[in-house]
Amino acid sequence: MFMAACNQSAPKSNTMTDSTTTATVKLPAAARFERTIDGKKTELFILKNKNGAEAAITNYGAHLISLLVPNKAGEITDVVLGFDDIEGFQKAAGAYYGATIGRYGNRLAKGKFTLDGKEYTLFTNNGPNTLHGGKKGFDSMVWDAKQTDSATVELSYLSKDMEEGFPGNLKVKVIYTLTDDNALKVSYEATTDKTTVVNLTNHAYFNLNGQGTGSVLEHSVKIDADAYTPVDSTLIPTGKIEPVKGTPFDFTAAATIGSRIEQDNIQLKDGKGYDHNYVLNKHDISTPVATVVGDKSGIKMEVFTEEPGMQFYTGNFMNGTNTLKGGAKDEHRTAFAMETQHYPDSPNQPAFPSTVLKPGAVYKTVTIYKFSK
Ligand code: GLA
Repeated sequence: MFMAACNQSAPKSNTMTDSTTTATVKLPAAARFERTIDGKKTELFILKNKNGAEAAITNYGAHLISLLVPNKAGEITDVVLGFDDIEGFQKAAGAYYGATIGRYGNRLAKGKFTLDGKEYTLFTNNGPNTLHGGKKGFDSMVWDAKQTDSATVELSYLSKDMEEGFPGNLKVKVIYTLTDDNALKVSYEATTDKTTVVNLTNHAYFNLNGQGTGSVLEHSVKIDADAYTPVDSTLIPTGKIEPVKGTPFDFTAAATIGSRIEQDNIQLKDGKGYDHNYVLNKHDISTPVATVVGDKSGIKMEVFTEEPGMQFYTGNFMNGTNTLKGGAKDEHRTAFAMETQHYPDSPNQPAFPSTVLKPGAVYKTVTIYKFSK
């Protein structure tokens, strides 16, 4: 049984080196997500599958809050970072824990792009650039939600014409499904009434040893990508697509996150670690684009996606300021993100796969995070 909520022990220590802590396995209390924000009700939705895995999602920013799966000893482990209440997410908005990101995930150089000859200007919230939708992205909006069965919640949001400077009324739908093979499937859909750009992703921070158990540097990672998009010092792609071979970015064979992260490499220096978009070899859902294994838990996560890129981010900006579920601090590199998406700054990079959505067309994409041991 996975409902071991009364059997919890809070993490004993919050340091990234602590390896003896017990993962938080309790789902947050629903009442702490029941608020009124921007005149709309927020709540918590719990998904369960036949094997006892559970996921908690709120319609505030369509955040994934908890994801409970068994480790190799059969103990339930919460593999995503999050907060015990909405206020936690609001306070740490800039870290995007578990958030649904839009209208444009990742960076847009200097907060500008041109569509059909017209230049659009956005709020710059990340140095000179726009990150993850601007000042108030989809992660801070209250979505409409309905739980359609015990394992599925559908969230929808209407992003109005010129919200955050993006043209077109964009109708967005995100469906989370917890399937019986312990996979969380995230399906995205969007339509527009004016030509616009769209790049949606999920910003879950994973620790496969369990949230609050310390560093992820010993997790092993394999990414099926022969190339990546190097960036400038503000993390905007230079436009080049470079081979990973012979660089610390090569994860075509499994390597631990920490094995090369401190190497003397300008890309790692500018990213303060890995914070780069991988150019995926295949992205047709049939084979995993990434496989990660928690060194202590034995939990394996496979990522499948239809997106051409994946931002691999190693929690380089985490610094222990926020208190996560159960009391753990979000210490440096105690989680990683694999944000499946189109490449950063694509609207300003004609050679990158297009993120333009036209009226009449449907944006549709699926990403799956599958867990086994
Ligand atoms: C994305 C970015 C990172 C960082 C995180 C949030 O992954 O690429 O640089 O901003 O979001 O902290």
